[in-house]
Amino acid sequence: MTCLRASKDIIDSSIHSAGLADNHLKTLDKYQSHPYLMENLEESIRLELKTDPEVVRTQAKWCGLKPGLRVLDVGCGPGKTSAILHEVIQPDGELLGLDFSEERIEYAKKHYDGKAGIRFQVHDFTAPLVGLGQFDLIWVRFFLEYFRLESFEIVKNLTDCLRPGGYLCLMDLDHNCLSHYKLPNKLEKALYDIMGLLEEKYDFDPYAGRKLYSYLYDLGYEEIQLDLVAHHLIYGKMGDVDAYNWVKKVEVAFMRVREVFEHYPGGYTGFHSDFMRFFKDPKRFTYTPLILCKGMKPLPA
Ligand SMILES: C[S@@+](CC[C@H](N)C(=O)[O-])C[C@H]1O[C@@H](n2cnc3c(N)ncnc32)[C@H](O)[C@@H]1O
Repeated sequence: MTCLRASKDIIDSSIHSAGLADNHLKTLDKYQSHPYLMENLEESIRLELKTDPEVVRTQAKWCGLKPGLRVLDVGCGPGKTSAILHEVIQPDGELLGLDFSEERIEYAKKHYDGKAGIRFQVHDFTAPLVGLGQFDLIWVRFFLEYFRLESFEIVKNLTDCLRPGGYLCLMDLDHNCLSHYKLPNKLEKALYDIMGLLEEKYDFDPYAGRKLYSYLYDLGYEEIQLDLVAHHLIYGKMGDVDAYNWVKKVEVAFMRVREVFEHYPGGYTGFHSDFMRFFKDPKRFTYTPLILCKGMKPLPA
């Protein structure tokens, strides 16, 4: 409860202040082999707030999670999703959540550890996975979008720790952050410029979702199935959580490519206030598709 009350205060202060950006932006850690684009001092809170338990349960059902499975949660963040998956696989299921952020693993241990069959550990997925044993199901949600160039290699490595007959479940956004109507031309151009630079400089992939099927196909997965649902579907009055999440995207990710704002009227502050004015207008329509893709690792012939 304390955590949620604190989060509400964070939402309120963040939404009402464009000047917070520099305070909240955390330097991308140099010790990390592949820095995380959304790194900021409130990232555990952002991920905690935007995770809707009902949505996770629906996705878990689609992916085939059931009691007794051994599941790996890749890039588990602060552990909220992992805890929901852990519930779904009870009794006797076992969940391992891995993330390279010590802060988020610490948060996960503090809030979601302690029950039998759930464990969190620091791991960087750009390094090989060793000594973890085999999993019945591997869950990869909102992760590959941060690895435009390495996604296929990561999926290939994950395949090594999936048991034959087990399922790999990939879920990612497509056309990420780009579908809004009706954006003024200067905002639309700035958004595309921002995304282009994030692709180039930060290995971010706004089109991660459409690529998932090809990874499973090329790796010889069987029984591949896909689904496409709305991740964002925003119209009318803006809710607090959506507002907070989008303010964070603008303040954390977009701020990393400040050069885009050199030619924007009013610079970054002008962009921030134009975008938030557009976003708060109940007339705007914003959507982002989420693509879900699962496949079975073939059994030996
Ligand atoms: C957008 S969050 C997704 C959290 C969670 N999977 C969910 O569905 O809400 C992405 C997570 O991936 C983690 N991450 C990014 N790069 C990583 C890497 N190389 N190895 C392990 N975790 C990484 C980040 O620390 C972050 O917690």
